[in-house]
Amino acid sequence: MCGIVGFTGSRQAAPILLKGLGRLEYRGYDSAGIAVVHDGAIEVEKVSGRIAKLCEKTKDGAAVPGTVGIGHTRWATHGAPTDFNAHPHVSNDGRFAVVHNGIIENYLALREELIADGYVFHSETDTETIVHLLELYYDGDVKAAVMKTAARLEGSYALGILCTDTPDALYVVREASPLILGVGVGENYFASDVTALVSHTKNVIYMEDGEFAVLTPDAVTVYDCTGRETKKPVSRVTWSVEAAEKGGYEHFMLKEIMEQPAAVKAAIAPRLHEGRVCLDDFELTAEQLRSINKIVITACGSAYYAGCSGRYAIERLCRIPVQVELASELRYSDPMVDEHTLVLVISQSGETADTIAALKECKARGATVLGIVNVVGSTIAKLADHTLYTWAGPEIAVATTKGYTTQLAVLYLFALYAADRLGRIDEARYKALVHELMELPRRIQQTIDMNWQLPAVASRYSSRSLFFIGRNTDYAVALEGALKMKEISYLHAESYAAGELKHGTIALIEENQPVIAVCCNEAIADKTLSNIVEVKARGAKVLALAFRDNRKIVSQADDVIFIPRVETVFSAALAVVPLQLLAYYAAKEKGCDIDKPKNLAKSVTVE
Ligand code: G6P
Repeated sequence: MCGIVGFTGSRQAAPILLKGLGRLEYRGYDSAGIAVVHDGAIEVEKVSGRIAKLCEKTKDGAAVPGTVGIGHTRWATHGAPTDFNAHPHVSNDGRFAVVHNGIIENYLALREELIADGYVFHSETDTETIVHLLELYYDGDVKAAVMKTAARLEGSYALGILCTDTPDALYVVREASPLILGVGVGENYFASDVTALVSHTKNVIYMEDGEFAVLTPDAVTVYDCTGRETKKPVSRVTWSVEAAEKGGYEHFMLKEIMEQPAAVKAAIAPRLHEGRVCLDDFELTAEQLRSINKIVITACGSAYYAGCSGRYAIERLCRIPVQVELASELRYSDPMVDEHTLVLVISQSGETADTIAALKECKARGATVLGIVNVVGSTIAKLADHTLYTWAGPEIAVATTKGYTTQLAVLYLFALYAADRLGRIDEARYKALVHELMELPRRIQQTIDMNWQLPAVASRYSSRSLFFIGRNTDYAVALEGALKMKEISYLHAESYAAGELKHGTIALIEENQPVIAVCCNEAIADKTLSNIVEVKARGAKVLALAFRDNRKIVSQADDVIFIPRVETVFSAALAVVPLQLLAYYAAKEKGCDIDKPKNLAKSVTVE
């Protein structure tokens, strides 16, 4: 949560900071602020609310002179989203300004100590303790003050710091929060995410935990946690600027839904060679795979639901037991994993705090960790023993879409790869499934093309409360469909394993209650059909989701969304698409802020 940016060069900083913040707004949008050094003093502009308000206040930055600055967009943790609590925070002597992403867990003790020392606090934030500590430890050497300050902090942080005594320098330090440096010509940058940097430079340095850096217009110097200078590799970002822009779509979410055929292709195509799945980035021998007696999948939010779908594919093809656990639960459950467990850690951002903690718990118990991650160089990608990137490109909308479908694609590849290595799939079926995988992007495109009528359907079904039902693979899709609906349209949406309806939920079915029934798993579609009949008998209005040639469903449901026929184990990748669109159009009709839903943030870097 929270996005931070910094710039040092010879151009005016404020407009650059505001543009960068605009690209990071998905990380939090409760308040925004910038600080620049100008004429030897720190000038701060901050507002509660969106970055657009800050742009208006500062005339897109033009009203704020200075060529060195830092910026912040906030997802409030400590203290309400007010002007006072907005970052940057400034030291009592006016010498330091700080922006922070993360949480300082010992801030109350630090705050009491600093107040006893005479420091005056102007906000309720944990961050403000940092800026006073800098003042306390400063004796003319900013680097030493930053290192002493960092040594006092417990929790997670990526900090951007200005000091009036070194007016062209930016200081940054990270611990368990993302931080990337952008290396330019005669100017340098930092940001929480490369999307804020790509329009200026594609040369970046990924900071590691405990590292500290000083940026001036002409130099970027990185130090390790002992204060020793360290040479860091400069990586090249492959994303284009356009990839992080709306490209004519009204919302990033719609653009990202439409990008799914290309994104899924990018995840699959490079990993298929001459009809076989090749996971160059993750090679295990049959013997190594055989020593695994259990797979644990852990993640949060949609990534967890991708894991629920993946479980069916892996169990069915590999016959290895798979346990899917919410990372926030797994981390505190004294998990039963050991060196014979393979843990799949799924995360679009690679920065979700609970997921990172679960990963560490499993690693500490000797498990092998395979990360399935989108953001290159992210914390999970670094901590995992092996990483399979999902190659979805930048995802900006808070509610994930292509992030989720590319996670499915990688899980399918993994299932097929492992089944083959273990000799648990015959050649004909293997070939057929490889073919299905190759076809998946095209079928996702067909799914989008077939469902042009969804705005009208959404209008008929977006009532105050919706139920999503399904069995097995369809249940996993129902979970994600309901989450999408809740996240962006704020409608109450619940998902149930269809067989569970009779154990309580059916009591809630009354006249005109919308029920979305996912019926793509044909082996048990008749069972779900019975559930449809049961809820209809109690007055429900049923929207079914089924394969194109499923005629049985037409006679029972009030409306049907069709998708192209696909192998059942891979059907979630298609079935979820109309549900994403349904949520999108429901939210649009309600006038919701689709890309930035209230109270949410894309990257949940706090517990
Ligand atoms: C947030 C996002 C979700 C995402 C979840 C997990 O809640 O809004 O879309 O699924 O975090 O994020 P991750 O980056 O770990 O996949």
